Amino acid sequence: KEGTKNIRKEMEKWLTPETLAVVKKAGELATKKNVKAYMIGGIVRDLLLNRPNEDIDVVIEGDAISFAIDFAKQIDGTVHQHESFRTATVETKEGISIDFTTSRTEYYEKPAALPTVLYSNIKEDLSRRDFTLNAIAASILPDTFGDVLDYFHGVEDIENKRLQVLHNLSFIEDPTRILRGIRFEARYSFRMSQETEALIENSLSSIASLSKERIQSELKIVFQETDPIWSMNRLNELGVLPYFLPHSAWNERTRATLQYYLEKERVTDAEDDFFYIICSLYVHDDKRLSQLKNILLTKKHRRVVQELMTLYKNSTSFHVKSAGAFHDMCHSYVDITLIMAVIAFMTGDKEQQRIGSLLRQYHIKRKNLQRFVTGEDLKKAGIPPGPLYKHIFFELEKAIIDEKVYDQSSAFHYIHEHLLQNSK
Ligand code: CTP
Repeated sequence: KEGTKNIRKEMEKWLTPETLAVVKKAGELATKKNVKAYMIGGIVRDLLLNRPNEDIDVVIEGDAISFAIDFAKQIDGTVHQHESFRTATVETKEGISIDFTTSRTEYYEKPAALPTVLYSNIKEDLSRRDFTLNAIAASILPDTFGDVLDYFHGVEDIENKRLQVLHNLSFIEDPTRILRGIRFEARYSFRMSQETEALIENSLSSIASLSKERIQSELKIVFQETDPIWSMNRLNELGVLPYFLPHSAWNERTRATLQYYLEKERVTDAEDDFFYIICSLYVHDDKRLSQLKNILLTKKHRRVVQELMTLYKNSTSFHVKSAGAFHDMCHSYVDITLIMAVIAFMTGDKEQQRIGSLLRQYHIKRKNLQRFVTGEDLKKAGIPPGPLYKHIFFELEKAIIDEKVYDQSSAFHYIHEHLLQNSK
């Protein structure tokens, strides 16, 4: 009901005085133009949760674009229009920005060219959103400043730490909301209601219709924001893991692999990080790996998977005796392949761990490979230039990795003992 709660105090506490002043000015203009204006979405949610958030979204019951243009003029700011979304951002000279959106019935926009532009009232706008905690508005008009509009009991759900989907078709309309839900659960220590979980179960077939680009960009946000082990468990519990990551395996082994990655090898690059995380669920099985190859979006990571498949097969099928032995197969492999393979082997049985630590040694040594002999040195030593040089250098690399060669004199010793005799 209108007027039951007011968040003026929270606004004064969490918004900077400058931002608050701009919001108030927008409210004054709305009164002058005789339109209603509300703060909405994430900002209201976070104010109610007593958390900072400076992303101000304002919904106008009317034409937000013309409102924003007038407002920018009034405060001598700039306006940036996003015509197709009926949204405009106004930025003050001090760099404070506010997004203005026209209230609408369709959350998902039709192409701008369509003539049926439906303005709706705030209630209809709120009713198209994902969860009750995101469907709360607060008036910014001077008369009712801070008054909360809570048609869907979002405030009560927030108090009960309950994540409640707004309507039956919410996940069918947009299955990535399941992933948003998992993020909100983690971020606020909330829990989905039983009804919400049941509606997820009903929306499984819609997940299949999402593009892999969409799935991956949303999953990436989940893994960045939450503990990936926790979110994999949650995805698994909700029964949606095989829909978002087809053919993946979530079991003791893959969990250990992911954990090993997170604790010992985690990288900062978001794309690579995402790759390591999902690859952990595919890496132990050839068939899964080839499925992963079809899912991946970048050429670089598809190459890694191809290399992993070869590496995995070959190193388990013959007895690798030394780190240098990997060089024949892996000299052209990218670092990610070697790191991922180490992670995979280190969580296996004793024999796999043995292979894993040799591979790790190989990787470290390969990175810091110090060559003790140049072509010039070989020439001076009376070895005639030719294709033999390439062979010598490569074999020397292997010997250096295995620490059989550690300076120039041991290098020449090795060349004479092992390389020249063979080639004659
Ligand atoms: N929204 C939705 N369904 C989506 C994405 C967004 O209903 N798939 C709605 C929600 O009501 C949300 C609003 O659009 O409050 C804005 O979404 P977003 O920009 O993602 O912001 P936040 O909800 O604030 O999320 P975050 O805090 O992670 O930015």
